[in-house]
Amino acid sequence: MEKLAIYPGTFDPFTNGHLDIALRSVRLFDHLIIAITTNAKKKPLFSVPERRDLILQSLPDGSKNISVEGFDGLLVNYAEKKGSSIIIRGLRAVSDFEYELQMALINRKLKPNVDTIFKMSSEEYSFLTSTAVKEIAQLGGCVDGLVPPAVKSALLEKFNKYR
Ligand code: PNS
Repeated sequence: MEKLAIYPGTFDPFTNGHLDIALRSVRLFDHLIIAITTNAKKKPLFSVPERRDLILQSLPDGSKNISVEGFDGLLVNYAEKKGSSIIIRGLRAVSDFEYELQMALINRKLKPNVDTIFKMSSEEYSFLTSTAVKEIAQLGGCVDGLVPPAVKSALLEKFNKYR
């Protein structure tokens, strides 16, 4: 049977840190679904179709074993519908731990067969957040090395800062 994992997030926008987690995770599975929540708490900068396109453009050519989808409602219900019991989350620093622990335990309470696997961020991305990237881009800073080229272009377009 195909081993399928779900890598959920808001991905507003997808960063090099997300890409790193996705590529290191897919090696452990037959297929990885990068799942974008449609019920983000904050008003997102990019729509779900925009985020999906940016993620697809950021994946290496021939990434046939990674797909990208939007989901709404509870993550565990989506995972079950997809036939997966594995959720992947990235951990950057100790500050991520409490939030991630809470989510993992709530998800396990909701569906005991769903397990969360944590991947440590690569050191070079351990400081990186989508929120910081948006702020840097909005204030005219350089996001080279923080986000894939397609995301950089989209940020520049959104904030209308051509340099
Ligand atoms: O990238 P993020 O914002 O840290 O991702 C958070 C996400 C989307 C994984 C989380 O908010 C989520 O699973 N949302 C779906 C709703 C849900 O299942 N909530 C219960 C778990 S706390």
